[in-house]
Amino acid sequence: MRNFELETYFSKWEFTAKHHMTASDVQSMSIGALCGLAGIPEANVFKDLWLGYTETWGAPDLRTAIAATYDRMAPENILCFAGAEEGVYAAMRVLLTRDDHVIVVVPNYQAAETIPLDICDVTGVPLDPDNGWRLDVDDIRQAIRPNTKLVSVNFPNNPTGAVMPKEDYAELIALCREHGLYLFNDEVYRMLELDETKCLPQAADAYEKGLSLGVMSKAYGLPGLRIGWIASQDTDALLKLERYKHYLSICNSAPSERLAVIALTVRDKILERNRTLLRRNLAALDRFFADYPSMFNWRHPDGGCIGFPRYRGQGDVEAFCTALIEESGVLLLPASIYRSELMETPADRFRIGFGREGIEVGLDAFREFLDRNHNTLSV
Ligand SMILES: Cc1ncc(COP(=O)(O)O)c(C=O)c1O
Repeated sequence: MRNFELETYFSKWEFTAKHHMTASDVQSMSIGALCGLAGIPEANVFKDLWLGYTETWGAPDLRTAIAATYDRMAPENILCFAGAEEGVYAAMRVLLTRDDHVIVVVPNYQAAETIPLDICDVTGVPLDPDNGWRLDVDDIRQAIRPNTKLVSVNFPNNPTGAVMPKEDYAELIALCREHGLYLFNDEVYRMLELDETKCLPQAADAYEKGLSLGVMSKAYGLPGLRIGWIASQDTDALLKLERYKHYLSICNSAPSERLAVIALTVRDKILERNRTLLRRNLAALDRFFADYPSMFNWRHPDGGCIGFPRYRGQGDVEAFCTALIEESGVLLLPASIYRSELMETPADRFRIGFGREGIEVGLDAFREFLDRNHNTLSV
């Protein structure tokens, strides 16, 4: 398998950087805080918990709670995984053969491209940086071949934060239906749209061959649970995925399943807490970027908790990000992490996150770095 660039970069810096300013998740919480939100005494949560194997599909009450977050899903339409990543891996390995062809949006979370590339032919379709990272559905239409099996999208997108307009999404679904294609939508950032009216229908609800990837990691801020899922009306496909999961994690962690059920019972409270934090952090980012108009181009993402601004200073963004982490302990992800094998990707961008508490401290360190290096960085 190709190297997972982002994870490799993070293996060096994620837990050592003084200011992690490129996190892809929202601020997490302790078990105590989660139980507090749910009004459950913490001591009761695990006392009688059985530590045997759990069901490969996921605990029935967890699948019920997840299904309730969709319009048309029942528990049998939900298959749980160890995080979203296992879901991406299993879906691509099961649905694709070496004779198939896949269409993937670029830029994207690297696994969306790397896993299918290890299996079959893949065509990339670009999100246009000069048009609000818009995906042109005609590009997908033109990429379709007789052996195309699946279209893989990710909205809200990592790293751009783009969300397709609803009418484009409806056109994409109609196109997939016309050609009998699976539509895999990585929806892990759903419910973090800045303008809630832009929130897309979930692929599993909207399309009989839609696969919705969901997880507790991002919008809920609970990545340590490693609870993800795929929802679909296509229960035959889910059954094949379940068979494949027997070779992967087999089943989810029992304590994590309990905690995920608790989190989903207080879903609205958690999402409200997280959206409030994002709004506050975005305002801080707006102030920051407004102070350096010649150094950066900043565009609000449509959704999620990361953005992909343009670096306009001297030198390239790779050297800039390296100097920033080494001199000031401020971690960003340079454009090379989002390089694609399928097409040119913007080389002057970096990923910045705004989901964590305390980003002001990181922004202060970022400012100090910029002010100290003003002469060598500014154009
Ligand atoms: C778009 C996207 N999909 C999937 C994943 C994997 O999620 P998890 O860590 O929960 O497996 C990530 C993680 O960053 C992501 O950003």
